[in-house]
Amino acid sequence: MLITFEGIDGAGKSTQIKKLVTTLSDQGRDVLTLREPGGTEVAEKIRMILLESRHAISPIGELLLFSASRAELVQEVVMPALADGKTVILDRFFDSTTAYQGYGRGLDLEMLRSIIEISTCGIVPDITFYLDIPPEEALKRKFSAKSIPLEFDSDELDRMERSGAEFYHNVRQGYLEIMRLNSKRFVSINALEHPALIHRQITALLKQRFES
Ligand code: TYD
Repeated sequence: MLITFEGIDGAGKSTQIKKLVTTLSDQGRDVLTLREPGGTEVAEKIRMILLESRHAISPIGELLLFSASRAELVQEVVMPALADGKTVILDRFFDSTTAYQGYGRGLDLEMLRSIIEISTCGIVPDITFYLDIPPEEALKRKFSAKSIPLEFDSDELDRMERSGAEFYHNVRQGYLEIMRLNSKRFVSINALEHPALIHRQITALLKQRFES
């Protein structure tokens, strides 16, 4: 089974993924968690270029780098793990590309669909949890954790995070549209709720969908 988590930076995906891994492992499932971009030696190098560099990268270049990282991860790790019967949890997958490079950077959505099909070998998650949060709130969380003033060009932010407020608004609108078009696969969660409550919602939904 493939479970993915989506949402803008700071929505609390990692906290929820950690809790879910514990619950599923306690139930005796063999769970593998991975994050995108990254997860193989080559994909981690691509991650450094995408997030840590100060270089300007064109929208198409950015799309192809995220996609190259995904192709490595899918073929080297995700497909073999699924074939082994593992439960794979991905912190971001191709919906991030549609939201960030499509709705955020403004790249053509049809072109993205073809590249996504190639980079994923056609794999689609069984279920996707979308943690919804207003961008200002997400950024506030991030900055207050580090006790620094909130500025979009801060050195504390990675290359994507320095894209600014309007970019993040477009990404969020993109997620809402993607969710509307894929309502069977997506579950929307209010990321402002208490983390323990969110976790209960997630486990209840998984139980309802996959154990009945
Ligand atoms: P990461 O540090 O993993 O952040 P987060 O905790 O928010 O997941 O950074 C990944 C960044 O890359 C994040 O800003 C989203 C962006 N991204 C894309 O723009 N396109 C993609 O296809 C993927 C996978 C990520």
